[in-house]
Amino acid sequence: MNDETAMSNFSSLSSSPSRSAVAPAWLADATTFQRRLARFNAQRIAPAQPHDDWAAEVQREAQMRLEEGAFLENLRAGVVARAAAAPTEADAFVAWFEQLEQNGPGQHDPLFEWLARSATREQMLWFLRQEVAGEAGFDDLLAYTQVKLPTLPKLEMARNFWDEMGRGSRKGMHGPMLSDLATEVQLNADIDATVWEALALANAMLGLALNRRYAYHAIGALGIVEQTAPGRVQQVGSGLKRLGFSARQRIYFDLHSAMDIRHSASWNAQVIHPLVAANSALAPSIAEGALIRLSCGARCFERYRAELWRRPHIAPHERE
Ligand SMILES: [Fe+2]
Ligand SMILES: [Fe+2]
Repeated sequence: MNDETAMSNFSSLSSSPSRSAVAPAWLADATTFQRRLARFNAQRIAPAQPHDDWAAEVQREAQMRLEEGAFLENLRAGVVARAAAAPTEADAFVAWFEQLEQNGPGQHDPLFEWLARSATREQMLWFLRQEVAGEAGFDDLLAYTQVKLPTLPKLEMARNFWDEMGRGSRKGMHGPMLSDLATEVQLNADIDATVWEALALANAMLGLALNRRYAYHAIGALGIVEQTAPGRVQQVGSGLKRLGFSARQRIYFDLHSAMDIRHSASWNAQVIHPLVAANSALAPSIAEGALIRLSCGARCFERYRAELWRRPHIAPHERE
C-alpha cells in the first residue's frame, strides 16, 4: 500500500478553520510525517537538563504540536459519527464499549491466527520489530493520563500502574519484559525501519495522553487496549511457542493474555463507568478514543498482512 492509497483510508480534513489552518504535510507523505513526529515524541518525553537552545526548542515544539493536533483531529473525524451513536447512560455505555471487542475496527484480524499457526521465525521477528518500534509504553501513557482525574478512576489507574511496575519488582515490570525480548533476539527496533502505520498508532496514543484536551480520549484508548489485547497476545504467544521461543521470552505475551482480562473489567467498572455516570457528556470522547486506537490498529494489521503475505521471507533489513 503506498502512502497515497493509505491516506485515503483516513477521513478528509474537516473544513473548520481550526483544522484547515494547520493542514499538515503528513497528508501528502505519511511516512515522513510519522517518522518526524515519532522522533519529536522521543525527544519530547526524554528526561533532560536545561540548555541554551530551550527557547528555539519551545518554538519548534509549538509548530510540531500544531501538526500533531491536525493529525489527531483527522483521526477524530474518522470515528466521530460512530462514537456519537454510543449511548451516554453509564451502564449502556459500558455495554457498548464491551461490544467493541467483537465489532470494533480490526478486531479478530486474520493476521493473528496466521502468526499463531503459520508465520516463520523471520516473519514473526519482523512483526515484533514493528510492534516494539511502535510501542508507546502503557505505563507512561497511564502516568500522563491519570493527572487530576477524580478519586475512583485515579485509584484504579494507580492499581493498574502498580501492576505495570511489577508491584515493585523489576522482574515483574511489563515494559522491560518486552524490551528484554527485543534485546535478546536482536530486534533492533528503529523508527526508520518501521512502517508508518505502526508509528501513527504510537504517535496517536502519546498525543492523546499528553494533550489534556484529549484526556478522556486517552482513557478510552487505554481501556480498549486492555480489552482487546488478550485475544491478540494469546495468539502471538502461541506462535512464539510453536517457533521455539522460551517461556521467559514469551512472558510479556503470556502474562497479558490473562492479566489484561482483569485489567479491562476493572477499567470499565472503576474508570469508565464512574466518569460517564458523573458526566454523560464524556461518553463520546471516551468512545472516540477507543475507536481511534482500534482504527490505528486495524491499519497496522492490514499493512503487516500486505508486507508479510506479499514477501513470505521478508528480511528485517528490507523494511522501509
Ligand atoms: Fe501491561
Ligand atoms: Fe494491562
